[in-house]
Amino acid sequence: MENTPQKICFSGIQPSGTLTLGNYIGALRNFGLMQDSFQCLYCVVDMHAITVRQDPAALRRRCLELTATYIASGLDPVRNILYCQSHVSGHAELAWILNCFTYMGELQRMTQYKDKCAKHADNINAGLFTYPVLMAADILLYQADVVPIGADQKQHLELTRDIAQRFNALFGDVFTVPEGYFGKVGSRVMSLQEPTRKMSKSDPEDTYIALLDPPDVIRRKIRRAVTDSETDIRFDPVNKPGVSNLLSIIAALSSCDAEQAAQELQGQGYGKLKERAAECVIETLAPLQAEHKRLMADKAYLQGVLDENAKRASQMANRTLSKVKRKIGFADWGRKA
Ligand code: TYM
Repeated sequence: MENTPQKICFSGIQPSGTLTLGNYIGALRNFGLMQDSFQCLYCVVDMHAITVRQDPAALRRRCLELTATYIASGLDPVRNILYCQSHVSGHAELAWILNCFTYMGELQRMTQYKDKCAKHADNINAGLFTYPVLMAADILLYQADVVPIGADQKQHLELTRDIAQRFNALFGDVFTVPEGYFGKVGSRVMSLQEPTRKMSKSDPEDTYIALLDPPDVIRRKIRRAVTDSETDIRFDPVNKPGVSNLLSIIAALSSCDAEQAAQELQGQGYGKLKERAAECVIETLAPLQAEHKRLMADKAYLQGVLDENAKRASQMANRTLSKVKRKIGFADWGRKA
């Protein structure tokens, strides 16, 4: 076994706003589950974030905040490679190459692109369109075996697999074809106000729980969450989306399934359901919030983590990139870059 190379896990989060409970349940919490069995890379994807306008100072600050969130959520900054996307130039290089192996029609079908065009009609830039190719480059650059993500990123992962297979068919086995990892519950946490839409940081404040929301704010937002006019507590996402969303949140955070959670709360009313959901969220987030605060007081430490890990990531990225360049025929006679 000793010579078996360690399998690779890759994922990323955009530093484009406060993270939500959706990001935590759908992605972040699963990142930690991987660190014992995989060499994990968790990236702060700032290059993806600029596909919509960002304030430069805020983007810089959020990059450190997200690094602090990664560590505060339990990711070991020594065992895992926590780094910033723009610090490793290989992402941009591979993205360009993969652009030439991706069809316009494929990108036009992406639902996230269509949603973002509707939301940012004044800035439908080419980056927004080719965003999934950069995501494919992120993943394929490290030969990732597994990619923990929420359900909304599934379509992008499918495209990544298609691009990898297309490239491999042309040039031999260059890329590992990655698998998605989706949690049993919570791969799509819904908005508190419109429970048929996913919880999103770009929606109004009362629709989502931010990871750094204090307990009273969490209680208030959940108390005001939309349910329905019945009183029955059961897991039924089609007919009772609001109630089912709260049950899924409880299930995800207390490691039971949503039906079990429903059974435990049977007959106790929506007030109790909301109280239970709020307690689960507050209990989960309290240690993360305390650790985040402690880490943000030491920016030099966070910068050091990113500097160190960018070097580790670059080394891995360069191995794939050299191979890709050779395969596609870029002139190379062993010269140094
Ligand atoms: P982003 O930054 O929008 O979200 C980060 C992760 O959180 C998940 N997520 C959710 N999961 C459940 N319920 C929700 N309401 C919810 N909202 C967000 C997302 O599915 C994601 O896993 N394109 C990606 C970032 C990215 C990436 C990558 C991910 C860039 N390159 C390579 C994996 C691998 C994105 O915009 O995620």
